[in-house]
Amino acid sequence: MKHLLSTPKHVAIIMDGNGRWATKKGKLRIFGHKEGIKSAKRAIYFAKNHNFDALTLYAFSKENWNRSKTEVSFLMELFVKTLDDEIDNLHKRNIRLKVIGDISRFKIKLQNSINKSEKLTYNNQGLNLNIAANYSGRWDITQGARKLAKKIEKGSLKSNQINENMFCKYICMNKLSPVDLVIRTGGEYRISNFLLWQIAYSELFFTDTLWPDFNDSIFENAIQAFSKRKRKFGKIIS
Ligand code: FPP
Repeated sequence: MKHLLSTPKHVAIIMDGNGRWATKKGKLRIFGHKEGIKSAKRAIYFAKNHNFDALTLYAFSKENWNRSKTEVSFLMELFVKTLDDEIDNLHKRNIRLKVIGDISRFKIKLQNSINKSEKLTYNNQGLNLNIAANYSGRWDITQGARKLAKKIEKGSLKSNQINENMFCKYICMNKLSPVDLVIRTGGEYRISNFLLWQIAYSELFFTDTLWPDFNDSIFENAIQAFSKRKRKFGKIIS
């Protein structure tokens, strides 16, 4: 009998609540995003210090384009600035950065920063840090399906060769450890089109804490809660 009492190898976080955090303080929503960067940095170093294989952060969803133009532009500038400011620190700490999502819709300046940062850190073997930007779980599955369809069109694949194991190879993060734990801050109890395929057997942890207030002690609580879960993966465990 094995209950797999352990720490997670791969944690994914829906960083929600920046806007409300700022509004509660009588400030503009963008202040919440600025503060959210500090929480993201804390979470990254926590993951590194706890020897996780991977940390995946949901920074910008496909649906986030529907926010006001000012907020979207601010977020884009913030991403460029954060990448430019932090990439050397991440590299020094042996962290490998990968952006998952459709980056083709971003301005060239941001695409260049992303490409440069990914290239610089490509051979790092410490933490795998994935930033989900212009990402959605349905987009991820669809882009995988499109790649498979292309193979079928070219005649290098037959439809009856498609199974879960091979489909999986066309989904983002397929080479990393499976997502063990998803944390969502901000008091909402939903997945919001974040990872879908990848979280089939993930444990979920929700906290009312707004993202700028997320700290090591709440991260510890999430890990504690995870370590007490009986992970059954569909089997019967007594
Ligand atoms: C959620 O709060 C946050 C976002 C939509 C994106 C911004 C995230 C950051 C700035 C954190 C770190 C970024 C990187 C690049 C690591 P919300 O605006 O949905 O808050 P609300 O639910 O209170 O409105």
